[in-house]
Amino acid sequence: MSSSLAEITESILAQLPPCTRFSNEDEALLLRLAPALAPLEDLLAKGFYDALFAHPETASVFGSGERAEREMALRRWWRRTLQGPFDARYWEYQAAVGLIHIRRGVTNPMMLAMWGWILNALQEALIERVKLAPQEVARAMEALYRLAATVQALTAESYLRHYLLALSHSTGVSTDLIHRLVSVEVAALDPSAQG
Ligand code: HEM
Repeated sequence: MSSSLAEITESILAQLPPCTRFSNEDEALLLRLAPALAPLEDLLAKGFYDALFAHPETASVFGSGERAEREMALRRWWRRTLQGPFDARYWEYQAAVGLIHIRRGVTNPMMLAMWGWILNALQEALIERVKLAPQEVARAMEALYRLAATVQALTAESYLRHYLLALSHSTGVSTDLIHRLVSVEVAALDPSAQG
């Protein structure tokens, strides 16, 4: 199994059918909308962390006094996203988040749920604040959904790959053998069994 962040990123992107990936046209559209999207930063940073701090499971991830720093990191991520370019470095950064999240006990369900929150918040803001025409909202959301799918794939799969790599390093069992052991185990599991 490949282990550098660049290799991991490339092999995850290769799994996505091209029509599902954030495209050059999506990039052009997002960069054109960037001046209107940039001021949504305050709303995103506040709403994102209000939701996380209001729920005990997600609030427990954070240390006391960490919120300002976390909000700043999300603002930086949003700025970098609106700035482009969507090059190998950008995608590797999204894959790196998977590894950072393992370290902090942020699970993929938490991450995916907050992506849903971001997309809904952006859709509402494009209608209510930016006041785009309905067709423009639909086209912008199409690009944002492909961005979300691409980034989610990278962050979630990088989480799994790094989890497996860590397990492999600490036990001395190769990732190939772990995969074979898993295949044998899951073949014997009955998905319809309750509990
Ligand atoms: C849309 C979903 C998410 C995105 C796009 C995202 C993005 C990021 C990014 C870009 C970083 C690296 C920050 C940096 O540059 O220093 C990061 C780190 C982090 N994120 Fe997330 N994140 C998401 C969901 C979450 C959730 C749901 C939580 C908590 C429940 C969370 C908690 C953290 C923490 C604690 C760090 C680590 C900071 C550190 O120790 O360096 N994130 N995230």
